[in-house]
Amino acid sequence: MTTEKSVPLIVLSNGAKIPQLGLGTYHLAEGKESYESVLAALKSGYRHIDTAHAYQNERSVGKAIKDSGIPRNQIWLTSKLWPNEYGEGKTLKALDKMLNRLGVEYLDLVYLHQAVGDYLGAWKELEQALKNGKVRAIGISDFDVNDEVFNSLVEKVNIKPQIFQIECHPYAQRDYWHQMAKKLNIKVECWFPLGGRESNGEILRDPVINKIAKVHRKTAAQVILRWHMQRGFIAVPGSSNPEHIRENINIFDFSLTDEEMAQINALNKEKRVFTMPYEEQKERFTKWIVED
Ligand SMILES: NC(=O)c1ccc[n+]([C@@H]2O[C@H](COP(=O)([O-])OP(=O)(O)OC[C@H]3O[C@@H](n4cnc5c(N)ncnc54)[C@H](OP(=O)(O)O)[C@@H]3O)[C@@H](O)[C@H]2O)c1
Repeated sequence: MTTEKSVPLIVLSNGAKIPQLGLGTYHLAEGKESYESVLAALKSGYRHIDTAHAYQNERSVGKAIKDSGIPRNQIWLTSKLWPNEYGEGKTLKALDKMLNRLGVEYLDLVYLHQAVGDYLGAWKELEQALKNGKVRAIGISDFDVNDEVFNSLVEKVNIKPQIFQIECHPYAQRDYWHQMAKKLNIKVECWFPLGGRESNGEILRDPVINKIAKVHRKTAAQVILRWHMQRGFIAVPGSSNPEHIRENINIFDFSLTDEEMAQINALNKEKRVFTMPYEEQKERFTKWIVED
């Protein structure tokens, strides 16, 4: 049986250790769906859960963690702050509310969810939260807009992000951003690792991936996630299906050969699922207020 012990730990620049595979909870509705999916994941051996204030399911995620009976310090819990929570005098308060919703005393990782609004003010407060132990690691999500946006944060801050969350999968491998992060000793976590719900399983139907899956008697999803692991990426596949949740962690009993890895690397076409222009992100994400 696959247990949490099989999932490698990735060491961040500040020494914190994050399980390389986690459960993504975007699209999981607050209540039964989030609660049961997180419980199923923890029962299957996951010890890493990725949520966000914007997903509006933190209460159920926190309740499942509590009810699982697994000690808090054995679970890596990530959440993300929305732009309406950014700014000096605001972000620490928003973090306290987040801890309250989740019913925990600290978070393992907090991201700035989007690269819009007063993200520098927010980062200053996250640096304080890191120092006072309310979070163990701080990161940026979706700052892969362009060099200017990325550098406007990483070059100005006292504590550089330990981790960077971006869309990344075999059809959009994002080599440029992996290199940018590597230069700064920032680890990369991949969202939409299976191509995202919005792509309707396009990558899961890829013939090259399915051929490799057949050889290993694994599913296409397992091959893609194994590829992420062997590339050294952290990945948070999302699912509300307990069978898929179990399947997605059952990837530590086989390896892809160098040739198979090369075949999947060759599928890259930088075809992103999320394509909203930055101007539109600024317009929409600053107007969108995520309520408590
Ligand atoms: N920072 C950001 O801006 C950002 C943006 C998007 C997502 N994220 C994070 O990244 C996580 C992953 O993204 P995602 O969940 O949208 O996309 P994903 O993990 O790429 O794909 C999820 C889709 O794949 C299906 N699936 C999962 N396992 C499967 C399997 N073994 N076989 C067949 N289908 C399978 C799911 O359906 P079922 O439910 O039926 O299994 C769902 O439709 C999110 O949950 C969230 O935590 C972050």
